[in-house]
Amino acid sequence: MSKTTFSLHSPLDMHIHFREGAMLRRVAPLSAETFSGGVIMPNLVPPVDNQDRLDRYEREIREVVERHAFEPYMTLFLRPYTESELASMKDRIIGVKLYPEGVTTHSEEGVGELRDVEDTLALMQDLDIRLMVHGETTDFVMDRERAFLPVYEDLATRFPRLHIVMEHITTREAAALLDRHENLSATVTLQHLLITLDDVAGGLLNPHLFCKPIAKRPEDREALLALALEAHPGLVFGSDSAPHPVDKKESAGCAAGVFTAPIALQMLVGLFEEHGALDRLQAFVSDNAKRIYGVEPPAKTVVFEKTGAVIPERYGDVIPMYPGRELDWKVAEVR
Ligand code: DOR
Ligand code: ZN
Repeated sequence: MSKTTFSLHSPLDMHIHFREGAMLRRVAPLSAETFSGGVIMPNLVPPVDNQDRLDRYEREIREVVERHAFEPYMTLFLRPYTESELASMKDRIIGVKLYPEGVTTHSEEGVGELRDVEDTLALMQDLDIRLMVHGETTDFVMDRERAFLPVYEDLATRFPRLHIVMEHITTREAAALLDRHENLSATVTLQHLLITLDDVAGGLLNPHLFCKPIAKRPEDREALLALALEAHPGLVFGSDSAPHPVDKKESAGCAAGVFTAPIALQMLVGLFEEHGALDRLQAFVSDNAKRIYGVEPPAKTVVFEKTGAVIPERYGDVIPMYPGRELDWKVAEVR
């Protein structure tokens, strides 16, 4: 009997947490095996916010993924930068990430007041450096992204030549913003296409689905899924795969982050197939990103086969989304 296969070319993960040291060595090869490139988040401790830190972090990543055709697209953590700092690092980064102070993992050094970085944003606009944003306030948890949307509108209007990426959007209102400003694009995660707050906390609490921004309402998920399935030209896949050791997840004071990197593509193939949209998946996981970010990642073809597979219970001390769950598709070949 002939096998059912499906292929993707140079898939990209436009938002990923690789960490450092042992965790980096564990997780980065899992992404580099199937993805052609990824946008590497800078929220380390201390953050990636100077040339030396950037050099060393990029070198560490490149050593770990050496065997694979994988391009790490580096980012800087937003603080007030001088023109010469930005000019000297511009060609080494895909963007600068704004974390509002205290809104998520390792954002203690984030931006307190936007006006403190306005000069830097103006420089970034002039130097053509994109801004990536964790768009949440410290309001009530379900309202944090919505409460941030006026900030996106304000920035998009006042800096019309600044490309702004709304990272990991989770609400239908954020989805709607994409059509209102030419200089806004967005990433969306796998989990926010699949789950709502019910899956996190509606029954027994599931720490492995807890992330920031928190999963929202069914209407929000539906709006995000519709945009992804049509491969909206302003939307790209960014897993926000964020590994934490099991003792930090299964504990009082659970760390935020869902680990999806090794299973994201297989699950996306299943999801797009289920909705009759497999012909759009290439745009969602690669072509849109190549166009929006102007990148040309290494050539890689990932062949998926429709055959039973099971998500591993663990990757070392990291538990993925949906451990032990059966999948319809598996990665059969990477070439
Ligand atoms: O859930 C999250 N985890 N959201 C973030 O914004 C950061 C991330 C992490 O670094 O663990
Ligand atoms: Zn993230």
